[in-house]
Amino acid sequence: MSSAIIIDGKEASSRLKTAIAISVAALKAKHNIVPGLATVLVGEDPASQVYVRSKQKTATAAGMNSFQHDLPVTTSQNDLLVLVRKLNANPAVHGILVQLPLPKHIDQFAIITAIAPAKDVDGLHPESAGRLLAGGDSLVSCTPMGCIMLINDVMPAIAGKHAVVLGRSILVGKPVSLLLLNENCTVTMAHSKTQDLPALCRSADILVAAVGKAEMVKGDWIKPGATVIDVGINRIPTPDGKGRLVGDVDYLAASKVAGAITPVPGGVGPMTIACLMVNTLKAACQQHGIKDVTIPLRLLPKA
Ligand code: GUN
Repeated sequence: MSSAIIIDGKEASSRLKTAIAISVAALKAKHNIVPGLATVLVGEDPASQVYVRSKQKTATAAGMNSFQHDLPVTTSQNDLLVLVRKLNANPAVHGILVQLPLPKHIDQFAIITAIAPAKDVDGLHPESAGRLLAGGDSLVSCTPMGCIMLINDVMPAIAGKHAVVLGRSILVGKPVSLLLLNENCTVTMAHSKTQDLPALCRSADILVAAVGKAEMVKGDWIKPGATVIDVGINRIPTPDGKGRLVGDVDYLAASKVAGAITPVPGGVGPMTIACLMVNTLKAACQQHGIKDVTIPLRLLPKA
């Protein structure tokens, strides 16, 4: 019985964060510029609070400036738009992240489209998405970027490989498909209406699961030796009432067949925040026309 390489997202993200910190220091030394990340949190959702604090802490640890805006849940759409426009105009702020989801009375799309595309470190603005499609240089959303880095780390040559992406969300499925296409993979985008999903998945050299359905992908859906990237984070009930986090893939079964697989938690998750720092560094360099600072887009080999 073979056993897959477990892709350690925490270890990989720490390699990436080290590379980012080196580039941030170089940007400061050569150009006296410190990348600035503004995070905006509306309301007091505990999970969102944890994510935002973690983004701020990571930015600071990488040597960046972090500007936090905590707004009450009653904030009007107009007041939030006023803040976004202020951040757009602030030269010390190179990246703007408005934590989602927003309260129901605020139109998420109106807020995302108000962010200056040059500062859209979440890669969610339609201009960023369009640039990715058109092949231009863009700020790519963080989870898809993390997926590609992990795949490249365990599969040095992916050109020509068949990649199957489960899920077609604007946040993950669509951008990760385009990134895999940019890497010259043959990409199939699968979704809830796809026929004979198990057979299609069995033809995948690379399988990215981003559907939000707990353990939907079974062990016998995996091609032996395939690389499996599990983006799902689902809480399933347990007898003690605490629940347990699982991905979209039946991890135990799949890890007996796959060549490499991400666990949940500890796989893709830790890469997302590190990739936000890549985008903040990249945005700062682009806004100042700087080309002599390395933007880490691949993981350095393990020491
Ligand atoms: N909420 C959960 N994930 C994300 C993300 O990647 N970006 C933003 N802005 N909000 C989120």
